[in-house]
Amino acid sequence: MTETEFLDDLLARMTLAEKIGQLNLVTPGGDTATGAVVNTGVADKVRAGRIGSVFGVKSLAAVRGFQDLALQSRLRIPLMFAEDVIHGHRTIFPLPIALAAAFDPALVRRTARVAADEASACGIDQVYAPMVDVCRDPRWGRIAESPGEDPYLASRYAAAMVEGLQGEGIDRPDSVMACLKHFVAYGAPLGGRDYAGADMSPARLHDVYLPPFRAGLAAGAGSVMAGFNTLNGVPMHAHRRLLAGLLRERLRFDGLVVADYTGVAELMAHRVAETGADAARTALEAGVDLDMVSELFVATLAAEVRAGRVAEADVDGACRRVLAAKWRLGLFADPFRRIDRAPAGDRLLTRANRRLARKAVAETCVLLKNAGPVLPLSGRGVLALVGPLADDRVNMSGTWAVNNRPADVVPIRAGLAAVAGPGLAIRHAKGCNIVDDPVLAARLNVHDGHEKSVTIDDRTPERMIEEAVAVARGADVVVAVVGEAKEYSGESSSRVDLRLPAGQRRLLEALRAAGPPLVVVVMTGRPLILHEEAALADALMIAWFPGTEAGHGLADVLIGEAEPSGRLPVSLPFHEGQIPVAYAEPPTGRPFRGRFEKFRTGYVDMPDGFSHDGGVHPFGFGLSYTRFAYGTVRTDRLSVSPGGRLRVEVPLRNVGSRTGSDVVQLYVQAPAGPVSRPVLELKRFAKVTLRPEEERLVVFELTEDDLAASTAETIEDTGRRAQSGLWRIYVGPNARALDSVTVDWRTGPAPALPADAPGRS
Ligand code: BGC
Repeated sequence: MTETEFLDDLLARMTLAEKIGQLNLVTPGGDTATGAVVNTGVADKVRAGRIGSVFGVKSLAAVRGFQDLALQSRLRIPLMFAEDVIHGHRTIFPLPIALAAAFDPALVRRTARVAADEASACGIDQVYAPMVDVCRDPRWGRIAESPGEDPYLASRYAAAMVEGLQGEGIDRPDSVMACLKHFVAYGAPLGGRDYAGADMSPARLHDVYLPPFRAGLAAGAGSVMAGFNTLNGVPMHAHRRLLAGLLRERLRFDGLVVADYTGVAELMAHRVAETGADAARTALEAGVDLDMVSELFVATLAAEVRAGRVAEADVDGACRRVLAAKWRLGLFADPFRRIDRAPAGDRLLTRANRRLARKAVAETCVLLKNAGPVLPLSGRGVLALVGPLADDRVNMSGTWAVNNRPADVVPIRAGLAAVAGPGLAIRHAKGCNIVDDPVLAARLNVHDGHEKSVTIDDRTPERMIEEAVAVARGADVVVAVVGEAKEYSGESSSRVDLRLPAGQRRLLEALRAAGPPLVVVVMTGRPLILHEEAALADALMIAWFPGTEAGHGLADVLIGEAEPSGRLPVSLPFHEGQIPVAYAEPPTGRPFRGRFEKFRTGYVDMPDGFSHDGGVHPFGFGLSYTRFAYGTVRTDRLSVSPGGRLRVEVPLRNVGSRTGSDVVQLYVQAPAGPVSRPVLELKRFAKVTLRPEEERLVVFELTEDDLAASTAETIEDTGRRAQSGLWRIYVGPNARALDSVTVDWRTGPAPALPADAPGRS
C-alpha cells in the first residue's frame, strides 16, 4: 500500500475527535526545562485517542508503556515520541555554537548521527533539533544553541545536522526525524530579550535568517517548529503568510509544523487572540499542525468545526501530515521499531561515542592568544589549576542537555591528571564563585536538581583569592578555568552585561600578579567581552561548554595531544553598546579612511584598535599551534559569463613545526548595484590539516547561485538575483586578514534560485 492509499483509508475511518487528537502533542512533565505548564491525565488521554505525540518521556520503560496504551485506542494509531536532543542525547557534545566553531560539517554530521543513534535507542522518533536561528545579538541567551551570526556557516551546519539525525532515512530504526527551529527570525529579538519580536525587511529575512532553514529543508528535514517571536508584528504561531504561504506553498514543505511550548496559547498573551478557541483557530489556519502542551486544539477545535468557524478540511490536512510523519518514521509498520532496538544501555555513552565527543572538544576550542607560546604545556612540572569551573561536572555540558548526567562527565581536573600522567603535579584552588550574588545564583540554579550549577562558598571571596594566589606562586604555569554557569546562557537567559562576573575578573588580576604564565580558558555559551582578559593572559582560549568529555578533550588541547582548531562563528563584541554585531554589515557612506577610528566605528568612546564589527578578534578568527602561510589567491579566469563557474585557489603551507589545521575562508564583496550589500559575505570554507612544511592548493568553486541575494519585496517572495559587475573574491584565515582578486562576472538575466531550493518556482 502506498502512503497516500494508507492515509486516505485511515482518515476515512477517523472521527473528528480522533483527528484532532492526533494534533495534540503533550509532555507528561517531570524533567521539562522550560514548562511552567505540564499536561495531566496523559495516560487516559492516550488510551482515548486524545493525544497523538508525546515528548520529554524520560525512560524507555515509560515510552513503551505509553505506546502500549496508544495501541489500546480504537484505531491503534501509534504515538510519536519526541525529545530535545540539541547537542547529544546521553553523550553530550560541545554546544551548537561550539560545533559551528568547528567549521567542519563532517564533524557536525557525525555528532548528530551519534545523537540519533542514542536517542532512537531510547524510543525517540523525532528530535527538536537543529536550532538554526542566526544570531547577531550575544545578549540573547539562546545564541548558545545557535550556529552563530553567518547565514552560510549556519546553512552548512543545518544541512549537516539534518543529514546526521535522519541518517539513511527516517524509517530506519536508528534514525530520527529532525525539526528545524525556530521558524523564523527568533534569533533577532528586540534588545536581545528572549521571546521578544523582530522587525526586518523581507530581503534581510531571506538573506540572513531563512538560508539555514532552506538548507535544512533541502537536506530533507521532516519537521519545522514555529518560533515564540513575532515577525513584523505577527506572532509566528499566527503567521499564515510565512507558514502556509512561504513555507508550505512557496518552499513546498510537506512535512510537519510543530508549535513551540504553549505557543498556541501564547497567541492570547500576544493579544492576537481573545480566547483559547481564537488562538487554536488562528494557529491551525496559519499552518500549525501540532499543538505543543497548550491542548487548545483538543479543547476547542471540534466545536469550532461544528460551528462552521473552522473548515474540517484544515483539520484533515494537519492530521494527514501527522499521520504521514508517523508513516514515514515506520511507526505504522512497527510501533516499537525504535523502542525494541534495545538493549538501549549498549548504545549509550559507548567508547566510540565518548571518543568522538573528546575529539569534538579540540575541534571547537578557539584559541585567541598564545604569547610565548605558552601553549601547549609541557605536561611536566607544577600546574596551578584554578577557577570555579576547573573541577566541575554540573556545568560542563552547558544548556539544553536534558538527558545529561553529571556523573558521566569528566571534569577538567580529572582529565588533566589522566592525560598528563604522574609527571605533572596539579595544585587546585577554586579561587572564586561563578557569581557572588545569591539572587543571581538562585536564578542560574533554576533548572537544577540536587546538584547545583552555582554554589556560593562559605569562604569569603578574599580568602578564596588568597588561596588561589598561594597555589599559583611556585607553579610553573597557571591555568584558570572561568566563565558562565550553564544556565547563564540558554533559553530565557539574556544578559545585559557580557563581561566575566566581577569576582572572576578579580581572581584573574590576582593570578596575573602572582607571576607565572597565565592560561585563561573561558567556558561560555555566548561571545563574551574578553579584551581585558586577552590583554591580561598569556594564552586565552574559548572552550564554550565542551560536554561529557570536557576534561579529556580540554586536557588534550592544553598538553598538545590535539590542537585547538575552532574559529569564531560570531564576532566578539568590545562593548554591549555596539550590539547587534556582525562582520557582514553593509558599508556606510563614510567608510574609514583616516587615522581616527572614530570615523570608522562611529563610536567616540571606542579605543583605537577595536572595530565596530567586533572587538579585537574578527569573525572566523582562531590560532593554531602551528603557523600557516597563504600564497597568492588566483582564479581560473578574470571574467565569467552568465551561467559560468569560477575556480578560486590559494596555496596554503604549514610553516610551523607541528601538524595543524587552518580554516581557509572565502568571502565575496558585491559590485555596485541597486541595494547596498554587506562589505563581506562568507561563501566557502575548508578546514585543512597539514604536516610541517606540507603545502596544499586549496580550491573552491563558485557559481552564480553563490552571488545571488534576495530581491524580495514581500516576505513570501523568494526572488533572488545575482548582480553583474566587478566582484571581489577574498580568501584568508578570518574576516579581516584577506587577500583578494577582482573578477568581472556577467550574471544571467533571470533571477537566480539556488539549485537545491525545494521552493524553486
Ligand atoms: C523551546 C523549544 C523546545 C521546547 C520543548 C521550548 O521552550 O523554545 O526549543 O524544543 O521548549 O522543550
